[in-house]
Order: sequence, then structure tokens, then C-alpha cells
Amino acid sequence: MPRLTATAALALGLLSLASSAAEPDPAARGRYLVAIGGCNDCHTPGFAQQGEAIPEQDRLIGAAVGFSGPWGVSYPSNLRLSAHQASEEEWLGKARRNGLPPMPWTAMQAMSRDDLAAIYRYLRALGPAGSPAPAALGPGQPIPTPHFVFVPQPPTSAKTSLR
Ligand code: HEC
Repeated sequence: MPRLTATAALALGLLSLASSAAEPDPAARGRYLVAIGGCNDCHTPGFAQQGEAIPEQDRLIGAAVGFSGPWGVSYPSNLRLSAHQASEEEWLGKARRNGLPPMPWTAMQAMSRDDLAAIYRYLRALGPAGSPAPAALGPGQPIPTPHFVFVPQPPTSAKTSLR
């Protein structure tokens, strides 16, 4: 029995070594989290349309195409600049606040500290680029940029009986 336990312990040890060896770079985890979190769809201009064709060095620089809704107009922040200009602690605070839609704030708040820190390190590794996104606008203000209208529209045909 003791031999079996020792073998099991060795196997476990090797397993954990293997997983830490597979991911030595904290920024690599950040890259992965950004990919599965869909962050590029909003924070990289044109990504929703062109996807992987946009080179990594041009990503996450924010967008001057706004999202217009009852909250006014929000613009996806330039994450490369926001991480460059903040300490890890400050950036975690910005990432966990409750800002404007359609940023998935609750997803950020559900993320572990380590995961959020890995995203910060990835952004720092990419380095600063681009210019700041336009400031958000309040409801009813004139909108000087292109923008998506993020408001439910009425149907354009009779209801189909899918359900
Ligand atoms: C559906 C669009 C959308 C998606 C997807 C999205 N964001 Fe955002 N994000 C925004 C918008 C819009 C803002 C600006 C909100 C505001 O003005 O309050 C923002 C703001 C932020 C901020 C605040 C930056 C600062 O300096 O204050 C952080 C951090 C952030 N996003 C990180 C992420 C990360 C990481 C992901 C992926 C897990 C992500 N976002 C996915 C739209 C999006």
C-alpha cells in the first residue's frame, strides 16, 4: 500500500510539473483568457468582422465606434493604454467597477484575481498602442462618431411558430 501511495504521489507531482511547464509565461494565460472572453470583439476595431486576420499587435486598442442605448454612448476603452498607465492594483479596480453597457462587467467581477492579473500582464506585454477611445456621452447628447444602436427593435415580419 505505501508503495502505491508513493507512486500516486510521484504521478501527481509529475502532472503538476507538466502543467506548470506547459504555461511558464503569465502573459500566455492572459492571451488565452482574452481569446475565450471575446474581449477583441469590442476592444479591437474590426475584429467582430475580420477576426484572426487582425494582427495581434493591432488588437485591444479600443474603438471609436460607440454603443448607443438608454445610458448614452459608451466606447470600448483602449486596454493597451489603460494597462500601460495603471499599476496592477489600479487596473484591477478599473476592471471590476460597474461601468456602462455593453461591457460584460459581471463577467469581470466573476473572474479570479489571478486571471484578471494575467490579462493585465498580457496587455502590458503587448505594450501601449493607439489613442484613447472617445469619452462616453450622456443620454440625448449629439453623437459625433459612428455608433451601434443597442436597443431592441420590433420584429419586421409576423411571428413564426418555431416554439
Ligand atoms: C460587448 C462589448 C465588450 C466586450 C465583449 C468587452 N468589453 Fe470591455 N468595455 C466595453 C465598453 C463599451 C467599455 C467602456 C465602458 C464605460 O465607458 O463605462 C469597456 C471597458 C472596459 C474596461 C475599463 C477600462 C478602463 O480603463 O476603465 C476594461 C478593463 C475592459 N473593458 C476589459 C475587457 C475585457 C478583459 C474583456 C474580455 C473579457 C472585455 N472588456 C470585453 C465593451 C466590451
